[in-house]
Amino acid sequence: MDALERLLHRASVRRYRPEPIPDADLDRMLAAAQQAPTDASGQLYAILRIRDRDLRERLAHLSGDQRHIVEAAEFFVLLADLHRADRLLAHRGSGLGRFPRMGLHFALLDAALAGAHLAVAAEAMGYGICWIGGLLNRVDEVARLLDLPVGVLPVAGLTVGVPDEAPAPRPRLPRRLVVHTDRYRGYSEEDLEAAYRAMAPISTSGDWLKLLAHYFASGGAMEARDPVYGRAKARQGFADDLAAAAAETLFVRGLEAGSLAEAIAGLLDHGWRGVLFGSGAFGESEVWIERETEAHRGEGAAPGDALAEAVRAAFPSEG
Ligand SMILES: Cc1cc2nc3c(=O)[nH]c(=O)nc-3n(C[C@H](O)[C@H](O)[C@H](O)COP(=O)(O)O)c2cc1C
Repeated sequence: MDALERLLHRASVRRYRPEPIPDADLDRMLAAAQQAPTDASGQLYAILRIRDRDLRERLAHLSGDQRHIVEAAEFFVLLADLHRADRLLAHRGSGLGRFPRMGLHFALLDAALAGAHLAVAAEAMGYGICWIGGLLNRVDEVARLLDLPVGVLPVAGLTVGVPDEAPAPRPRLPRRLVVHTDRYRGYSEEDLEAAYRAMAPISTSGDWLKLLAHYFASGGAMEARDPVYGRAKARQGFADDLAAAAAETLFVRGLEAGSLAEAIAGLLDHGWRGVLFGSGAFGESEVWIERETEAHRGEGAAPGDALAEAVRAAFPSEG
C-alpha cells in the first residue's frame, strides 16, 4: 500500500505488540516530525519521549487509565514550547516579547503539525498510532510531573507501536459539511440529520449523539477539563492577563486562577469584600484588597502582578 492509500484508510491503533521500534525507524519518524512546517521557522514545540515505565504508568493513570499509553513501544508528549525561544533570544542579548495569545496559537500549531508529521511517518512505516487528549484531564499535574518550565504546555500525547489490531477506518462527516466554498455555509436540519446518519457506525449503539455529548455537551469531559487547563495555562505563562509568577503566587496561597477575573472571583469567594484597582504614581498598577478588619496593597507592572503582591501580603505565612 502506498503512503496515500495508507492515509486514506488509516485508523487509530490502541492495541500494540510488546515489540520495540528499532532506533533507525524512530530516528526517521522524529526527523519527519522535525521537518514539519513551522511558523517563522520558530519551532515553538518540543517532543518529550517518555521512556521511564513508572512515568508512563502515572501518565496513563492521569489520562483516564488508558492502557495503550503503557503498552505502546513509544509514548510521546507534544509540547507547545516558548521556553526555548526565550532562552535563544536571551542567549544573544535579546528577549522574548509578551504575546501570550499569539504564543499559544502558534506554539499549539507547531506542536500539532510536528505530531501529525510524526504520526503520518510512523503509519507510513507500518506502525500504529493513537493521539491522547486524555492527557489534558489533569494537565496541571502532567506539567508538574514532567518538570515543564514556564513557557511550556502539554498539547497531547501520541502512542506509537507495532499494531496488534487492524481496526476498520472510522466514519467521517459528509464532505459538504466540512469543506465550504468561498463563504462559510450554515447547516440545514437536513445537513444535521445527514451528519448523524454518516457518523452512526462510530459506536455499537449507532447513536453519535452519545459520544458527542459525552465530550462536548454541558457537564461533559471538555467542561471538566477547561478550568484545569485554564489554571495550568496561567502557571505555564500563557494567560492573557496573569503572568506565570503571579499565577504561581496565587496557586501557592490556595487561590489558583486561570485569569485575573478568576483571581478576583476567588478572593471574593474567600470573604474579601473589595478589590480596588488603580494606577500608581509612576504608571504601575496598584490594587487594594480589603475585608472587615484588614486591607492590603500591592503594586506591579500589570494588574495581575499587583494583585499577586497584595495576596502575598495578605497571606504572608503560607509560602
Ligand atoms: C487531539 C486528539 C486527542 C485524542 N485523544 C484520544 C485519547 O485520549 N484516547 C484514545 O484512545 N484516542 C484518542 N484520540 C483518537 C480519536 O479517538 C480518533 O482519532 C477518532 O475517534 C477517529 O478515529 P480514527 O483515528 O481511527 O480515524 C484522539 C485524537 C486526537 C486527534
